[in-house]
Amino acid sequence: MKIYDFRSDTITKPSDAMRKAMYEAEVGDNVYGEDVTVNKLQDMACEITGKEAALFVSSGTMGNLIPLMILGGYRKSLITDTESHIVHYELSGVASIASLMPVTIEAEKGILNKDLVSKVIATNEDYSMSNTVMISVENTHNRGGGICYPIETLKELFKFSKENDIHFHIDGARIFNASVAQKISVKEITKYTDTVTFCLSKGLGAPIGSVLCGPKEFIEEAMSIRKLIGGGLRQSGIVAAGGIYALENHIADLEIDHKNAKDIANAINEGSFAKINVADVETNIVICDTFDDAQVAYEKFKSVGVRTIVFGKKKLRFVTHRDLTSSDVKETCEIIKSLKV
Ligand SMILES: Cc1ncc(COP(=O)(O)O)c(C=O)c1O
Repeated sequence: MKIYDFRSDTITKPSDAMRKAMYEAEVGDNVYGEDVTVNKLQDMACEITGKEAALFVSSGTMGNLIPLMILGGYRKSLITDTESHIVHYELSGVASIASLMPVTIEAEKGILNKDLVSKVIATNEDYSMSNTVMISVENTHNRGGGICYPIETLKELFKFSKENDIHFHIDGARIFNASVAQKISVKEITKYTDTVTFCLSKGLGAPIGSVLCGPKEFIEEAMSIRKLIGGGLRQSGIVAAGGIYALENHIADLEIDHKNAKDIANAINEGSFAKINVADVETNIVICDTFDDAQVAYEKFKSVGVRTIVFGKKKLRFVTHRDLTSSDVKETCEIIKSLKV
């Protein structure tokens, strides 16, 4: 049976050309800062995000955890949205490792704004309160259905964070999807943040790695924390080369994933098991509302080779990515339209 795997954009495998670039990568001991390929990737990341410094890390989770650890501690809190990856899928590292109390805000599609944030901001003027030290937003928002942060909202949030002396972080695991969908450069987005973590191993198609970018001093501290939590990888240029290849060759292709996601959404509305507002599909994530238990639809799709993820009692997620060809998507659309759930 042919498998159409829409579970995540993390399942892509490196192409032959990417593997060749990895094989041929010049390497050195990255803990000594001597891996020229890692250094090149970090320089590229600075150029792309407009930040002073960058650090190659093992994963998006590590790239989020490091800033949380730098800012965390006794009597400190983080503001983020209820559906954020940091809260949902990062094993409570925010609390258990970084010692930050997450103050979460319920927000439409996970998109925070100044009014929402200003209601929960806390200072430790009162000795029993914990101080808000960080605001973290997710762009694009995974559980929000791949939604992009409106640039004006980011601008306003960043301004607010600076006025209140709060660190602003973007979990930009899929920031390239936002950049392509909004037709603005990553730099234009990251102008409104202190730090950003982006992933190479999602839609960009590299096998491993993320990059944390920010001010020089912050990244210097991040380097020690990376070592502390086991991320001091030595000849990591081998994997960084996959990331460089992805940045040089794969960014524009995200547009294809976005179009494929719209096709999937349209097919869902023509089918009989769920509905979705197609206008809400801005990038490569499609979260539809199933009419009945999502688990039933999930099993039914699985039985015909279409892999998805249950994202709630009545929510099913499809993610498009570069290992799904246009004909894979076309065939899946036909299955979606005809399947009786
Ligand atoms: C929005 C977001 N942030 C962070 C991560 C964590 O990335 P990783 O799986 O590389 O730890 C993910 C992973 O899917 C994600 O979707």
